[in-house]
Amino acid sequence: MDQLALLTNDPRLTLAATCVGGCVIALFGLKVIVNFYKYFLRPSKNLKKLGEWAVVTGATDGIGKAYAFKFAKKGLNVVLISRTKSKLDDCAAEIKEKYGVEVKVIACDYSNFDDKARAGVAKVCGKLDVGILVNNVGVSYVYPKYFSELKEEEVDGLMEMNVNSTTWMTHMILPGMMERKRGSIVNVASAAGVNTMPLLAQYSAAKGYITMFTRGLSVECAKKNVTVSVVTPFYVATKLAKMRKALTVPTPPAFVDMAVRWIGHGDVVVQPFWIHGVMGWVVNSLPTFLSDSVIMGMHAGIRARGIKKDARKAAEGKGN
Ligand SMILES: NC(=O)c1ccc[n+]([C@@H]2O[C@H](COP(=O)([O-])OP(=O)(O)OC[C@H]3O[C@@H](n4cnc5c(N)ncnc54)[C@H](OP(=O)(O)O)[C@@H]3O)[C@@H](O)[C@H]2O)c1
Ligand SMILES: *[C@@H]1O[C@H](CO)[C@@H](O)[C@H](O)[C@H]1NC(C)=O
Ligand SMILES: *[C@@H]1O[C@H](CO)[C@@H](O)[C@H](O)[C@H]1NC(C)=O
Repeated sequence: MDQLALLTNDPRLTLAATCVGGCVIALFGLKVIVNFYKYFLRPSKNLKKLGEWAVVTGATDGIGKAYAFKFAKKGLNVVLISRTKSKLDDCAAEIKEKYGVEVKVIACDYSNFDDKARAGVAKVCGKLDVGILVNNVGVSYVYPKYFSELKEEEVDGLMEMNVNSTTWMTHMILPGMMERKRGSIVNVASAAGVNTMPLLAQYSAAKGYITMFTRGLSVECAKKNVTVSVVTPFYVATKLAKMRKALTVPTPPAFVDMAVRWIGHGDVVVQPFWIHGVMGWVVNSLPTFLSDSVIMGMHAGIRARGIKKDARKAAEGKGN
């Protein structure tokens, strides 16, 4: 006891503690300042310098549509790739009218991105000076579920739509960028691709694949003047998310307005919407057992509502 009292009275120890505490606070402060600069002050790159064309997958709705419109607004020509031809034509007409850029559309079902489908995309994109590729198309669960509850086609779709699409599109477009020594690939993963997500385990794993794919590629490509980054949003108000706009849930254009400001700077794993950045920081600061149980509880709640809705639909179906 006496020894402890002696130790705590030791001025050298007090000094050391103050230094360590000061350093921690200074580092944190520095991090806040750097992030503030990146989120709000850093000028955007001139995206037209990357190449004439931007290619966006899943480009007729939600986040992909917002990217396509934003690039067109900045004067890039765009290739829209998506499933439904009529929606593609509508989007293309709207973009041409609003921004007067060139637009190409490709109807492609990424749930079966086989060699034939890939050849169809390559035929259009192969000859173009593609400056930006956004691998946005993807699919999540209908609602959070235990992995054992997923149907076979859901298991397959999660891999095809998230993993195969991103991998093969990159394999197709990246060589041209490396040859031209300019370009940027933006992969759309999810906060689920960097955090533990119970009841979305396979979605989380598929997005985690995209995160690690990006991290490796970004280092490989750096010397070739090609940047590769991955965005990892929490909820964005789209059909896929089935969420309405809220403080923590931006609309796709609001999300993309912030996201495009990060393109080409060399940041690799990016949380472009600042409120999501704060959310991610909180999740990562909690002890794992706590964040795991909070997210598990949240997802269990959404699952319960999903099951109820399924049951209601089934009952209505029988009634007819
Ligand atoms: N929304 C969120 O909260 C959120 C959060 C984190 C990450 N993400 C990720 O963001 C990406 C975009 O999601 P979103 O919310 O914007 O989705 P969304 O609003 O549902 O839009 C999906 C787009 O992909 C197209 N698409 C769907 N299935 C397709 C298929 N089989 N083949 C080709 N195209 C297909 C759709 O076209 P059609 O209408 O013609 O089918 C549409 O253009 C996904 O990778 C998702 O995982 C979203
Ligand atoms: C998706 O990728 C896997 C692994 O390469 C492959 O076995 C599968 O055939 C791919 N799907 C399509 C439709 O090509
Ligand atoms: C790298 O790319 C930028 C456009 O992002 C371009 O302006 C620059 O000239 C390129 N540098 C080299 C060495 O090719």
